[in-house]
This record gives sequence, C-alpha cells and structure tokens, in this order.
Amino acid sequence: MRRKLFGVILAVCIGWFQAEALTAGFIKSPLSQMKLIEDSAELDCEVIGNPIPEVQWWFIEGEEPIETVTQLFDGAKEDRVRINATYINHATSTLILTNLTLNDTGVYECRASNDPDRNDLRTPPKVKWIRSQANVIVFEHPVITTKPEVVSDQNQTSATLSCNLTNTTFLVKGNYWTHNGKTIEKSESTPGKYFIEHIIKKIDYHSAGIYACFFQTEPEVNATIEVKVPPYVGAYKHSENANENDKAVLTCVSHGYPLPTDWSWYKLGENEDEKVPIVNGTVDKYEIKSTPNKTMLYVKDLDINADMGMYQCQGTNEMGSASDQIQLRVRSQLAALWPFLGIVAEVIILITIIFIYEKRRKPDEISDDDDSGSAPLKSNAATNHKDKNVRQRNSN
Ligand SMILES: *[C@@H]1O[C@H](CO)[C@@H](O)[C@H](O)[C@H]1NC(C)=O
Ligand SMILES: *[C@@H]1O[C@H](CO)[C@@H](O)[C@H](O)[C@H]1NC(C)=O
Ligand SMILES: *[C@@H]1O[C@H](CO)[C@@H](O)[C@H](O)[C@H]1NC(C)=O
Ligand SMILES: *[C@@H]1O[C@H](CO)[C@@H](O)[C@H](O)[C@H]1NC(C)=O
Ligand SMILES: *[C@@H]1O[C@H](CO)[C@@H](O)[C@H](O)[C@H]1NC(C)=O
Ligand SMILES: *[C@@H]1O[C@H](CO)[C@@H](O)[C@H](O)[C@H]1NC(C)=O
Ligand SMILES: *[C@@H]1O[C@H](CO)[C@@H](O)[C@H](O)[C@H]1NC(C)=O
Ligand SMILES: *[C@@H]1O[C@H](CO)[C@@H](O)[C@H](O)[C@H]1NC(C)=O
Ligand SMILES: *[C@@H]1O[C@H](CO)[C@@H](O)[C@H](O)[C@H]1NC(C)=O
Repeated sequence: MRRKLFGVILAVCIGWFQAEALTAGFIKSPLSQMKLIEDSAELDCEVIGNPIPEVQWWFIEGEEPIETVTQLFDGAKEDRVRINATYINHATSTLILTNLTLNDTGVYECRASNDPDRNDLRTPPKVKWIRSQANVIVFEHPVITTKPEVVSDQNQTSATLSCNLTNTTFLVKGNYWTHNGKTIEKSESTPGKYFIEHIIKKIDYHSAGIYACFFQTEPEVNATIEVKVPPYVGAYKHSENANENDKAVLTCVSHGYPLPTDWSWYKLGENEDEKVPIVNGTVDKYEIKSTPNKTMLYVKDLDINADMGMYQCQGTNEMGSASDQIQLRVRSQLAALWPFLGIVAEVIILITIIFIYEKRRKPDEISDDDDSGSAPLKSNAATNHKDKNVRQRNSN
C-alpha cells in the first residue's frame, strides 16, 4: 500500500519535471559600466531553465563589419579574466575583469542555452542560444592638479587645498571632499565645477591626514592631498601600579598623520637629563611591542628599588617627534596583602566586640527572667498542675 503510494508520487514528480522542461530565460542581465584604467569590472548573469542552462561569455570588439568575437574563459586576457559560475537550481555566472586596459573597451555578451543540440555544429541553428549584452568602456585617468600636493610646513597653521579637473570631456555632476576616507560634512558643491577648494582652519593632529577631492563624473574620479604634522603621543595612563615580582605594562598611543615610524622608550633618572634608553629584548626584563599607533613596554619581574620611577615613550615620524611620561609604582608583596589583612583585622575586632557584648549581656538577661517565672518554677518543681493553676488564679 505504502510502496504503491510512493510509486505514484514518484511518477507524478517525474511527469511534472518532464512537463516543466523550460527553455532558458534571463533573470539577471549584465549591466553596462564605465571604468578607469586598472579598475575592475564585474558582470553578472543569471539564467533559469530546465535542464539548467549552460552560460558562456563572449567579447565583441570593434564595429559591425569588422568586429571580432571571442569567447572568454577563466584565465583569458593574460589571466585578467575570472569566471565564477554555479549551476544549482539555476545558472549564475559572474565575469570578473581585473586591471582593465583601454583595449578591454567593448561589448560583453552573456549567452545561455539548455538546448541539447546547442554545441552541435552540424544541425542547423534554431533558437539555440539566448544573448544579453553590456558595454564596458575604459577611460584614461583624467588629470587632476592638486595644490598644494602636500602640506608639511611646521610653521603653517592653516591651509587651502584645491583640485582642478583639467580634462573637461567629463560631465561633473557634483563634488565632495573626504578626510581619511570619511566624507567631510557640507563639502559638497554644485554641479559643473572643475575647480574646488577646501579650507583647513587649524592644522593639528586632528585635522592632519589624507584629504581627497572627488568629482562625480562617470566614472567617479579623485585626487589626494596629504596634510602632515609631527605625531601626538600620549600615555594611556600616567601612573601605573604593580606588585613586586609581578609584570607591568606601560602603554602610549599616537594620533595624527603620519603615525610614528619609530617608537623608543627611556627610563628617566632623578635628574631631568638622566635618560637611559630601553632596548628591546637585550635583557629578559624588557619587551617592547609597537604598532604605528601604539607602543607597549613590558617590565617583568618587578623590583621595588630598580624599576620604580618615571618612564618615557617617544614616537617619531618624518615631521618630528613627541613624547609622554608614565610613573611606575611598585608595591611590596606585603603591601599587596595590607587590604586583606585590614579586612581580617576588622572581622576579628568585630567578632571580639560581639563576643564581649554577649558575655556582658548574659547576667542581665538572667536577672530579667527572675521576675516572670523561673523562681516559681524552681520552688514549685514538685507541685502538680492543678496547684499551679490555682496559684496563678490567686495571683491574679
Ligand atoms: C565565487 O562565487 C562564490 C559564491 O557566490 C563566492 O563565495 C566566491 O567568493 C566567488 N569567487 C570570486 C573569485 O568572486
Ligand atoms: C596591470 O597591468 C599593467 C600593464 O598593463 C601592469 O604593468 C601592472 O603590473 C598590472 N597590475 C596588476 C595589479 O596586475
Ligand atoms: C591594445 O591593443 C593593441 C593592438 O591590438 C596593442 O598594440 C596594445 O599593446 C594593447 N594595449 C594593451 C594595454 O594591452
Ligand atoms: C580627456 O579625457 C578623454 C576621455 O577620457 C581622453 O580621450 C583625453 O585624452 C583626455 N585629455 C587629456 C588632456 O587628458
Ligand atoms: C619656521 O619658523 C622659524 C622661525 O620663524 C624659522 O626659523 C624656520 O625656518 C621655519 N621653518 C620652516 C620649515 O619654514
Ligand atoms: C585649472 O586648470 C586649467 C588647465 O591647466 C587652467 O586653464 C585653469 O586656469 C585652472 N583653474 C584654476 C582655477 O586654477
Ligand atoms: C581614488 O582614485 C584612485 C585612482 O586615482 C583609485 O585607485 C581609488 O580607488 C579612488 N578612491 C575611491 C574611494 O574611489
Ligand atoms: C621585541 O622583541 C620581541 C621578542 O624578541 C618581539 O616579538 C617584538 O616584536 C620586538 N619589538 C620591537 C618593537 O622590536
Ligand atoms: C590603531 O590602529 C588599528 C588598526 O590599524 C585600530 O584598530 C586601532 O583602533 C587603532 N588604535 C588607536 C588607539 O587609534
């Protein structure tokens, strides 16, 4: 019975699949795009059909009478072509062109078919392949002149940055500036401007960085201007406490542009000019770990006398250097115990007080009870209940 039902379902399913045999149809077609030399382009194509169609990519170069048509495979065009295809439920294929050259300008065609005869050259062509085309146009980088090219005068307190898009064959739909990749608020300007300016009122480590002007052309183009300042260096904490025989970590961070290319640490003596460089790894005691924006000095196996004191971190970039100081305090191991001992002492005192209080209180309590009933109980221990009741009534 069950097997029969299963058979029927299977037959229905197969029948449905056969009935649903579909010729290929696009559900996503590649889009035309404009690019600059060395950019990448990605073209997507998705096709449904039953059976799942095969997808191919073709490149058509030149005009109608003398056009050349070549099929693109993974690794074509000096390995700049990647084809990423999946054939699950339906066919998806992505053509990725990297490091574009002017020669890549042309028509890219996505072809799909699930006709069993699709690749048979002898049978006359029916509607074997369906096609969808997109244009890719590659432009040379336009010339954008920037002024200044770099701001690196330490005496300069403000600056006016400017960009001039000298190639006016592009249509400019708008402009904006960015600072370290973030769009600067209210830096957008009206369409059709080929010359734009941005004013930096105060040059400091906040305003330093990489500025870029963007022209909203097709494709969008940009140019960058660097604003450099000596680094800002600051201790993460100006005072660090650690225990004897333990390890201390002193940290300094840096902001600004460019970030330090060199970090160094010093141990300062009693006098201002007494400054001993700490070299990484020379002794087991010190270890320095640095990234451009952060440096950490590990002082191991702390000694109260030798390691306590002032330390200095110094960051240096091409514009100059800056430093900050950290005080390291080393507590004796016993000192670390003090808070604990304090608590223990407190508890002991508390217990003692309670104990003494209880002891003192005891005689009072006994005398309190004397009036109420312990005396009669004692004296009438031998008398029966009846007598007790009578006596109590009497007392009332
Ligand atoms: C290929 O496609 C898969 C799935 O869509 C994706 O995970 C993978 O990153 C793609 N590879 C490339 C080179 O784009
Ligand atoms: C891009 O192609 C140019 C030559 O056309 C070559 O010099 C350059 O190294 C390539 N760049 C990459 C990232 O492959
Ligand atoms: C572009 O094609 C021309 C002619 O086919 C060739 O001489 C030239 O080297 C190619 N340029 C690049 C960047 O591939
Ligand atoms: C301006 O741009 C066009 C299109 O990209 C290009 O053909 C032309 O050579 C460029 N001219 C200059 C002076 O850069
Ligand atoms: C900055 O100003 C000082 C004093 O005015 C001068 O001596 C120095 O040369 C200036 N530095 C630069 C880079 O212009
Ligand atoms: C922008 O550059 C062009 C071409 O070099 C020049 O003629 C024009 O005067 C420049 N514009 C400004 C505002 O400097
Ligand atoms: C700015 O232009 C350069 C080429 O000049 C390009 O490599 C870069 O991706 C552009 N930046 C952005 C954010 O588009
Ligand atoms: C210091 O030495 C350690 C271990 O030898 C190493 O991992 C670390 O990168 C070094 N740091 C610097 C700033 O050279
Ligand atoms: C330092 O740079 C890293 C990435 O390079 C970033 O994740 C981190 O937040 C930065 N730290 C500081 C203190 O700026």
